[in-house]
Amino acid sequence: MRQDLIDQARDVMRKNDRGTYTVPTHGLYPFQWNWDSALSAIGFARFDEDRAWTEIETLFAHQWDDGMVPHIIFHKPDDGYFPGPEVWQTNRPVPTTGITQPAVAGFAARRIYDRAVDPVLAADRARALLPRIHAWHEWFYRYRDPHGTGLVAIIHPWESGRDNSVDWDDAFARVPTEGVAPFQRRDTAHADPAHRPTDEQYKRYIWLVEHFRNLGWDNTKLHDASPFRMVDPGFNAILIRSCADLAVLADNLGESEIARQSRAFAERGAKAFESLWNGPLGQYVCLDRAASKLVDSPSIGGLLAAFCAIPRDRAAAIAARIGTLAESARFMVPSHDPEAAEYDGKRYWRGPVWLIVNYMIADGLMAAGQEAIAQRIETDSIRLIEESGFAEYYDPITAEPCGGSNFTWTAAMVIEILSAERT
Ligand code: DGY
Repeated sequence: MRQDLIDQARDVMRKNDRGTYTVPTHGLYPFQWNWDSALSAIGFARFDEDRAWTEIETLFAHQWDDGMVPHIIFHKPDDGYFPGPEVWQTNRPVPTTGITQPAVAGFAARRIYDRAVDPVLAADRARALLPRIHAWHEWFYRYRDPHGTGLVAIIHPWESGRDNSVDWDDAFARVPTEGVAPFQRRDTAHADPAHRPTDEQYKRYIWLVEHFRNLGWDNTKLHDASPFRMVDPGFNAILIRSCADLAVLADNLGESEIARQSRAFAERGAKAFESLWNGPLGQYVCLDRAASKLVDSPSIGGLLAAFCAIPRDRAAAIAARIGTLAESARFMVPSHDPEAAEYDGKRYWRGPVWLIVNYMIADGLMAAGQEAIAQRIETDSIRLIEESGFAEYYDPITAEPCGGSNFTWTAAMVIEILSAERT
């Protein structure tokens, strides 16, 4: 075990710790982000279980009445970020955004509970969170699958976490840029603009925010009113996995009704999931729900599918697909196929490697019996840290550190991977 790397990783996490929540990194992201927090909690749990639960509790303290858990909680004002609360205008006691992010909290809660050194503390804290996490899952299926398909849609690229993925390009082109109030980006003052989304994409991000704001953030309207409605296999896999994990957690805590409903969500999702399979690519792909067509795009969203219980032959195909990607990149797993025309090894989600996605893919592949490729992914993840430090993301060919530095969830994943002693 590389204790020196674990110590450095803890140091990164402590520096980004604001007491009851962590910021992803100082400067670029000065607030609490939803999936950053839940994944970082898994890292915290390896050395401070109480602090790990607090991270998730703080996030859920800002859950909306309808069940949504917002993607950013603006705990304290900070001019260094755009778009801030004055753009979102969600009218909350502590301002939040009005969209959500991947539902990793159910998975994280079960993982922290299962490994708890202090089972009494874990049972107490998990019991209080259980109905809240379940209400979020219900929210997803009620408001983001209003026509009952079994799969949920995102209505803004920021919800997926994969903001500028090639997957969205065609659908995003339908989002207008006209009429957006003039704004000044802040992200490009903290990170290399060549690593970030383009100005054109930013205008569309903000057009959608203004559109939803004009609809009063009313989730009974937003899904059908959004010109951008994408069914992302990665996003759905995370939700299905979290529902399945919440079912196990609920059983352990004697909450049989939550267990039953969670299992039903996961089973229905898993059945519908197969409609996203793309045979020629050997992976899952997105569905553009607004255009009713599958998107032929070789991105990591379709590989992240392995995080939920997919059929074993599909997991084997995904492992083989990653093996093919390894012929054109040194570090697994690039967020877009390096052989594809749209690939850009430094630009956010259009090519770079992200440790959190690596962790989830490796976890799923390991459970599906694909140990060799899972281990390769974990080994590559640690090699990236050794070469380039705790960056936000990395060029999969040169290992260049990209985006922000001293990144909380990257550090959390390093602690998690090295503590598991599999690397
Ligand atoms: C950003 O500001 O870049 C974030 O990814 C939005 O969540």
